Amino acid sequence: MVNTQKTSSDNESRYCLGIESTADDFGVGIVNFDGDILTNTVDSYVPMEGGIHPREAARHHAEVASKVLCRALTDANIKVRDLTCIAFSMGPGLGPCLRTGATVARALASYLQIPLVGVNHSIAHIEIGKLKTGAVDPVTLYVSGGNTMVTAFESKRYRVFGETLDIALGNCLDVFARHVGLKNQRGLPFGAAVEQLALKGKNFIPLPYVVKGMDLSLSGLLTAATMQLQRGNCTLEDVCYSLQEHAFSMVAEVTERALAHTEKKEVLLTGGVAANKRLQAMLEAIAEEHNVRFNVVPQKFATDNGAMIAWTGSLAYTYGIVTPIEESYVKLRWRVDKVDVPWMN
Ligand code: ATP
Ligand code: FE2
Repeated sequence: MVNTQKTSSDNESRYCLGIESTADDFGVGIVNFDGDILTNTVDSYVPMEGGIHPREAARHHAEVASKVLCRALTDANIKVRDLTCIAFSMGPGLGPCLRTGATVARALASYLQIPLVGVNHSIAHIEIGKLKTGAVDPVTLYVSGGNTMVTAFESKRYRVFGETLDIALGNCLDVFARHVGLKNQRGLPFGAAVEQLALKGKNFIPLPYVVKGMDLSLSGLLTAATMQLQRGNCTLEDVCYSLQEHAFSMVAEVTERALAHTEKKEVLLTGGVAANKRLQAMLEAIAEEHNVRFNVVPQKFATDNGAMIAWTGSLAYTYGIVTPIEESYVKLRWRVDKVDVPWMN
């Protein structure tokens, strides 16, 4: 553990550049060590059709990397020589995409001869949520395209209190949207398209609701929702509405139980699906019932972004965590409970 006594003026002039490349986004963020975000730049890979093809996405990342890096440095109005360290998403995520980001990060750190910091992408979603909302020690519901989990800090680590047993919530919404023929419109995630249709739904259709202990399962719900529509006796709006109600109630139930168990005083909603207003309203209602503070990550930082990697990298670096280049291989299934978070102790 080092450097815990730095003054605020020191922190203002120390900068961490973070690279995000776990899936379809190539993002670069720059923060100072006080948590001011100087820039948060992103270029997203949009598949012509279907889901993300990891190698195609990785090729996109390699193509846009230098352009996004230059834009970020210009935006932040700093020179590469001003950087204190380089952080990158080391996992979990798609192998080819992670490796592309890691290669860029290693090259930069070696060239500038500054430390490299491997960051856990899931923890970065939590930390940016805390930074932007002021939450300190929340029960977190982290819901995205690849992850669905309820975590809270306990015994030196972020512990997983409950999670999906199969697909992630965002993936459930995305696959449903593609199956029913919604088109991938630039700038509008599939989850947001389902949200808009759900607003017009009027009839609640019973679908599978699967919570097992503290875990949940969404694949049966996805299949049943898709089949309902194929049968042709209900509207797309009603199915979107019912799909959301079931899936969101499941994650809310697990979050509520974690809250009761841990007796934490804050709830944080983070990850790409946190942008959903209906999910926000459900969690807010639970928080109110338990008399705890509800926090939701601002939309701009809900989906994958470089700023969250930069901020978490700066926290780790402040507490002496660096990743030697020879140990900087990516970890495709890196769980939050395997990561030291000394800044929380
Ligand atoms: P991770 O690696 O953390 O799993 P990811 O690659 O899935 O991340 P995120 O940007 O965190 O990326 O989340 C993307 C997901 O968020 C997609 O499934 C998308 O459909 C979903 N999403 C975005 N906006 C909304 C919304 N308004 N309502 C529901 N889901 C949304
Ligand atoms: Fe993410």
